[in-house]
Amino acid sequence: MRSVVGIDQGNLQEPNGCMMFAGPADHYDRFMGRYTPSLAVAFTDAVGVTAGRRVCDVGCGPGGLTRELVSRVGPANVAAIDPAPQFVLACRERNPGADVREGVAEELPWPTGTFDITLSSLVIGFMTDPERGVHEMRRVTRPGGIVAACMWDISHGGMTMLRLFWTAVRRVEPTAAGEARLAGTSEGDIADRFRRAGLTDVVDGSVRAEAPYTDFDDFWTPFAFGVGPSGQALLSLSDEQKDRVRETCRDALPAGSFTLDARAWYARGTAPAV
Ligand SMILES: C[S@@+](CC[C@H](N)C(=O)[O-])C[C@H]1O[C@@H](n2cnc3c(N)ncnc32)[C@H](O)[C@@H]1O
Repeated sequence: MRSVVGIDQGNLQEPNGCMMFAGPADHYDRFMGRYTPSLAVAFTDAVGVTAGRRVCDVGCGPGGLTRELVSRVGPANVAAIDPAPQFVLACRERNPGADVREGVAEELPWPTGTFDITLSSLVIGFMTDPERGVHEMRRVTRPGGIVAACMWDISHGGMTMLRLFWTAVRRVEPTAAGEARLAGTSEGDIADRFRRAGLTDVVDGSVRAEAPYTDFDDFWTPFAFGVGPSGQALLSLSDEQKDRVRETCRDALPAGSFTLDARAWYARGTAPAV
C-alpha cells in the first residue's frame, strides 16, 4: 500500500529538528533502534564492509550501526559522529575504543581522505543540508573508497511501522503529507544525490530489516516518546485524535506478539580521485 502522508499540513505541526532526537537513548532504542540490529547487518553486507577497513558512521545515534562496524573491523578502525550529545555518550559507552564525536554531517571534523568507507544510516533525510552532508562524506573518504547511505522506504510504504502509523494519522488529518518529503525516502533519490555529488560507480537497491514486538503496547508506547517525525506528529494531536490513531493501528495489527518488516533504500558510490 502506498503511504505518502504528512506532518506539515493540516493541524499537525512541523516538528522541530532539534527536538526530534532530543530524548534519551533508551527511548530511541525502543522506538527505531529495535530495527537497527537487522538493518545494520543488511546495510553493511550491501556496502561490503570487511575487516581491515577504516570506517566512519555519520549520524550514529546511540550506536547500533557503530556496533556492527566495530564487530567487523575492530573499534580502533571505527569513527562515529552525531549532533545529539546524549546519543554520543551512549554510542561511546556501547562502543569503547571507537572515536565517537559530537557534530554534524555538514562539517565533519576529520581530514580529507581519512576513511575507506563512510556510511550513514537513516540520517540523510534529517540533515539540514543533505547536499553538503554528502559532499563532506565524500571528502573524508579516500579516493577509491566507498560512500553509502540508507533511508526507510516511505514512498512505497515498505517500512511497515511507519506506514501503519501514518495511514492511521490520515484518518484524522487527511491532508497530512508525511515523511515522503525527507531526502532519501523515495526509490533512487540517494543514488541521484550521490551522482550529483560526483561519486562514481553508484549502485542502489533496497535492504530489509525487522523488529519483534511483544504486543500492541510494545508497538504503541514508544510513539509517545516523541522520537522522529512520527513521534513529534503524535504529540501535535489532541487526546481524542491520538486515541483514534492508536485504535486504528491496533485494528491493523494482530493480538499478541508479532514481527514487522521494514525496507530501506540504499546507495553506495565510489569517491573519485581528486
Ligand atoms: C533516525 S536516527 C538514525 C540513528 C542511527 N544511524 C541508526 O541507524 O539508528 C537519525 C540521527 O541523525 C542525527 N542527525 C540529525 N541531523 C544530523 C546532521 N545534520 N548530521 C548528522 N547527524 C544528524 C540525529 O541526531 C539522529 O541520531
